[in-house]
This record gives sequence, C-alpha cells and structure tokens, in this order.
Amino acid sequence: MIKIKSGVYGLNKLMDGGINQNTITAVIGSSGAGKTTFATYFLKRGLEQGEDAIFITLDEEPKQIINEVVEMGWENIEDYIDEGAMVFVDAGGKQFSDFIKTELAGFVEEWKGYNARIIIDPLTPVLWSVQHKYEQRDLISFLLRETRKIGTVVCTLEEHSIMGDLSGPDLVIPMYLADNVIHLRYKSHENPELRDMKIIKCRSSRHSNFWHSYKIVKGSGIIVQDAALSAEMPPHVVDLNSRLEKELQKIPAARKKKLTPKISHSIYWTISLLSMEDIGTLDPDYIIRQILLEYDLLDG
Ligand SMILES: Nc1ncnc2c1ncn2[C@@H]1O[C@H](COP(=O)(O)OP(=O)(O)O)[C@@H](O)[C@H]1O
Ligand SMILES: [Mg+2]
Repeated sequence: MIKIKSGVYGLNKLMDGGINQNTITAVIGSSGAGKTTFATYFLKRGLEQGEDAIFITLDEEPKQIINEVVEMGWENIEDYIDEGAMVFVDAGGKQFSDFIKTELAGFVEEWKGYNARIIIDPLTPVLWSVQHKYEQRDLISFLLRETRKIGTVVCTLEEHSIMGDLSGPDLVIPMYLADNVIHLRYKSHENPELRDMKIIKCRSSRHSNFWHSYKIVKGSGIIVQDAALSAEMPPHVVDLNSRLEKELQKIPAARKKKLTPKISHSIYWTISLLSMEDIGTLDPDYIIRQILLEYDLLDG
C-alpha cells in the first residue's frame, strides 16, 4: 500500500505514515467538528504536489464553499480552479442518486488514469436520496467503488445522534464500507474548542487507538496534538530496549540455546517497532514477557 500525506498536521504518524492510496476515508462528526476543514486541507495537500482534486458537493454551491475556504486561510484555491487542477461536481440541485446511477460511470471514465483526491462533503444526503437500506447500501457501495478508481477518497458523515454514539442508522453503512474511519468530536456544545479525534478503523495499516486532541487553525486547517490524552498514556517514557536486555539476562542457561541470532534479531526488531501508543496502559514488562514466552525463552 502506498501512503499519501493527509494534509492534517500530526495525523500521518497516527496512521503509520498517512492514508493508504485509493482508499475511502469516512470522517464523522457533528456540525462544526471540522469535517469540511479536514476534507479541504486533504485536497490542498494533494494539489500542492501536483495531484488533481475533485470536490463533490451536495449541500452548498461551489461559490459559497470557495468563500468559506478562503476565509479558513486557503487563499489561493481559485488559482487551482482556474488552471483546471481542481473541479467541483455540484450535485446539490439534481437527484444525487440519479447522478450516481447515470452519470458517475462516465465521469470516472473521463478521469481514468488520473491520481486525484476526491472529497464528498457531505455524504449523508446520498443515503437519504433512496429509501430502503439495501438501496442505500448498493448506492453508496457503487459510489465509493467507482470514485476510488480515480483516486483517494474522503467523505464526511454528519453525526446527529448523541455525541459519541456511532451506531446511528446514517453511519452504519458508510462506516462499514469505508476503509478508514476517523471520528471528530467536541466535548460539549459549551466547550466546542475542546476537540479530540480517534481513528476508529484503518484497513491494512497500523494506527493509533487513542483520542487525540486537535485544534482548527486558520491557514493550517486541523492540527492534531502530539500526545494521546494523558489518562490513557503511561506516565513515564519507557526504555524498552534496556528492559528487554534485563529480561534476556534472566533466561535460564538451559534455554539460552533457543536464543539464536535470528530470533534475537526478531525480538529486538519487534521491540523497536513498538510505540508508546501500542503499549498504552499495558505493563511494558508484560509485553516483553509475552514475546519471550512466544519463543520459549521463559518458563511459563
Ligand atoms: N477562520 C477560521 N479560523 C479558525 N477557526 C475557524 C475559522 N472558520 C471556522 N473555524 C472553525 O471551524 C469550525 C467549522 O469547521 P467545519 O470544517 O466547517 O466543520 P463541519 O464541516 O464539521 O461542520 C467552526 O466551528 C470554527 O470553530
Ligand atoms: Mg461541513
């Protein structure tokens, strides 16, 4: 899988380097959480390195979107539109389900061979454009399957239910179909500036499982804070290598021969790939012990 940079500062390292190319990322959050900001800075990042950008909009007219985006600090968006690197598909006026059924395939054909970034902001009304669950599933599935042929997709989902509850009927189908799901939330309507995000799923990639606070900053878009929320992090930095060293010294002589150079290398490699986030609230010595047990180096 090729990783592409998300355009969201601080997010790439939480997804093992970025978003997998030609995947679908669903960004979920209630109104004002920062979904549109996420999506537009994702496009901006691609445009900056010569990729193309497609903005599929259902709610707002392109003119209004451009104004808001400029207001958020992306001042030269119109240059990209003028030079043809960025296009809008304004699907608000027409029945979007008709567009998907009749025009989408032709659109995708036109863009074949491109490596674009595509955003669908918001995706939620597409669900509402058909009545039955199975129709919704077919329609969304077709839309996502087609669009990913021409690039990497970010779609946004409105969260209407109680904040934090992702079991709402509007969310289940797209969350299931998406490769990656990122949940943006704010603590309460009284404190909308206290925001945090979590990567709910990320297919074929390691990813953080913690809530990470983030800010929306004009000109930067979204900035994810460095550390996971302190309650979920061990209070001290752990030097895994020296702990491993110590455990290895305790190996009974009779078992030492099992520690071949190959296995020794493998254990050190495994440990070197463990990040603090992987460890989370687990006891680091517990993890080391499990590894040594796996190679039959400890009694147990
Ligand atoms: N010019 C700005 N500077 C800083 N923050 C802004 C600016 N404009 C909007 N915001 C913040 O971004 C939020 C809206 O983000 P947006 O991406 O439109 O959310 P969503 O699409 O999830 O509804 C606003 O609630 C506000 O806090
Ligand atoms: Mg929005």
